[in-house]
Amino acid sequence: MDVRTALRLGIAQLRASNVSSYTLAAELLLLHATGRTRTSLYSHPEDQLTEVESHNYFSLIERRGSGVPTQHLTGKQEFWGLEFEVTPDVLIPRPETEHVIEVALDRLALRDLRSKHSQNMSGEGLLIADIGTGSGCIAIALAKELPAAKILALDVSTAALAVARRNAARLGLSDRITFLESNLLCTVSQRSPLSVGLIVSNPPYIGHREAASLAREVRDHEPAVALFGGEEGYELYSDLITQSAAHLRPDGILVLELGHNSLPAVQPLLETPAWANVGVTNDLAGIARVVAAERASEV
Ligand SMILES: C[S@@+](CC[C@H](N)C(=O)[O-])C[C@H]1O[C@@H](n2cnc3c(N)ncnc32)[C@H](O)[C@@H]1O
Repeated sequence: MDVRTALRLGIAQLRASNVSSYTLAAELLLLHATGRTRTSLYSHPEDQLTEVESHNYFSLIERRGSGVPTQHLTGKQEFWGLEFEVTPDVLIPRPETEHVIEVALDRLALRDLRSKHSQNMSGEGLLIADIGTGSGCIAIALAKELPAAKILALDVSTAALAVARRNAARLGLSDRITFLESNLLCTVSQRSPLSVGLIVSNPPYIGHREAASLAREVRDHEPAVALFGGEEGYELYSDLITQSAAHLRPDGILVLELGHNSLPAVQPLLETPAWANVGVTNDLAGIARVVAAERASEV
């Protein structure tokens, strides 16, 4: 069978199975099964697949059609221009999480401007904590952008931390990231009080009550500990914000990703004397996606 026919049949099969973005999925699976580049796929559509390539490709199509996410079949997902290994032990990095990185970098630049430092955007002297690091995508993207910063990447899941460690090593960023098993910042608190300059987190924020409305790819294949924050979804934010206040240095920055309906529950938690300059950023769909605040200096 030639490449063009394989792609056409794969697309038709995924479409019939109600897979979203079926064309892209079939293309990614064909690239994965054959080791071809996208350019060669389209410049040589007449190329014949070997029997093994064809068998591998159509079994991937079958599994994708049954609900397995494309990223679990290819084992990877791009985030912030970097390629991350993903397994069923970690949340697949989402594009909207890139807003967390953008807001964090903007807030750091603003703080430096305000304090009249010559813009120290290397992260010199900066300690960052990423709570619920999963694949490590936020910690690693920040390590890449801030080449002198030190980062603590925390997660309750041992299995997720193993994936995050491998991602950091493959991307050559292990030396500045410490991975620690921790319930929020509890492990850190037991060791010593920290003076963190930036805390970032994309916590689990889906409510158990919403489980039935999730796509099967998410509900049946991504780790529950990465998805669900409690019955309503926003339950973890309260402890997350209290513990962050205890570890951030004065003028330290907190940047949190929000669930689609978390803002009304989360914003009041930041309207206390411990926090200043609270700001909300919408994602491309117009949903309040990131909330950021600064640790007030005098409390
Ligand atoms: C929504 S995922 C985010 C993963 C990754 N940071 C990202 O943005 O793709 C939430 C992560 O928080 C972790 N987690 C859940 N509860 C936690 C807790 N109490 N303390 C620390 N990490 C937790 C999960 O294991 C999961 O890796």
